[in-house]
Amino acid sequence: MSAANAQLRDLGTPPADARQTELHPDLNHAHVRFINLGKTYDGTVHALQGIDLAIQRGEVFGIIGRSGAGKSSLIRTINRLEQPSSGRVLIDQVDIGDFDEDRLVALRRRIGMIFQHFNLMSAKTVWQNVELPLKVAGVPKPQREQKVRELLELVGLQDKHKAYPAQLSGGQKQRVGIARSLVHDPQILLCDEATSALDPETTQSILGLLREINQRLGLTIVLITHEMAVIREICDRVVVLEHGRIVEQGPVWEVFGNPRHEVSKTLLAPLQHGLPDELQKRLQATPQSAHAAVVLRLQFTGASADEPDLAALFSALGGRVRLLQGGVERIQGHALGQLLLAVTGSTLDADTLRTRATRWAQQVEVLGYVV
Ligand SMILES: Nc1ncnc2c1ncn2[C@@H]1O[C@H](COP(=O)(O)OP(=O)(O)OP(=O)(O)O)[C@@H](O)[C@H]1O
Ligand SMILES: [Mg+2]
Repeated sequence: MSAANAQLRDLGTPPADARQTELHPDLNHAHVRFINLGKTYDGTVHALQGIDLAIQRGEVFGIIGRSGAGKSSLIRTINRLEQPSSGRVLIDQVDIGDFDEDRLVALRRRIGMIFQHFNLMSAKTVWQNVELPLKVAGVPKPQREQKVRELLELVGLQDKHKAYPAQLSGGQKQRVGIARSLVHDPQILLCDEATSALDPETTQSILGLLREINQRLGLTIVLITHEMAVIREICDRVVVLEHGRIVEQGPVWEVFGNPRHEVSKTLLAPLQHGLPDELQKRLQATPQSAHAAVVLRLQFTGASADEPDLAALFSALGGRVRLLQGGVERIQGHALGQLLLAVTGSTLDADTLRTRATRWAQQVEVLGYVV
């Protein structure tokens, strides 16, 4: 255990609620834990309310929600850039609420952070940007040089060490930001929209780097993004915030495969395959003729062997079933699928078709009718 970590542990605040920790033994090992956390700005803006959440060591944890939902406020309480108005934040079971300045400095060195706009010093080179926090911390030159070299290698920027930020691409700037965030060997990395300013390809390479850091260095990563594909790609679990409260949380495959709250459904809608435009235009809310086809959307999640048996599904629906759109993807080893079907000539009404189909899919919607 490093000195700073020992310092954190030595603070030894007893567990908050002994009864609750008995009921939920995993909470005893949470890396970051929020207990009934609240944050109010200017006495009137309730940015966070009643947040109870445990982030486990070594996981990549996603935070999503609409703009203003409280995501940044929440992540910033982890390193106390934001002071909670009520409730508590525990890091390694230690309450950081009453830390004095010295302890806060030690805490912030254990928690790296990267941002959307990189926050690099434009008058300093790549090398100097990464070295600066080590200088500030009074680390001797030989150790500084070794650390900077090691980190530039990790993020793949050895050749750019003399460049200035203006001479770098967005992805390279974020790599510098990542290297700088790791200088004190943090155990937690906070990412607030770290890929939002990057194109899709660069985003992929930064996500690859974050995953490597998570796996190779064992860092816990807490990540805010408005790009749902990023969550799907890299996160283990996700929480959905709305008006400062948690409305849904769980493993990514579960929340993405079967979102329950309206906000989650709205946020995740762009990931769904839509109806082809031409069909969407013809879609009607009520059947205009006896020959109208019922359009169903089926979504299923499950273990990899659980893809629906289409022959059985089609025969249960009766009539003629046409596939309009469909696909299966895998998240965390789980199959997530969606089928858009048009059923004609069935003896069953739309509602019965929907009920029948729920044998094969967790969510079935009647989208409407087309002739
Ligand atoms: N320093 C501040 N002073 C006053 N109000 C603030 C402050 N910071 C945030 N807020 C308010 O708190 C609420 C939550 O803001 P926060 O920045 O946490 O949202 P967010 O989910 O990160 O949004 P975004 O996706 O736009 O970044 C918003 O209503 C915001 O206006
Ligand atoms: Mg924000």
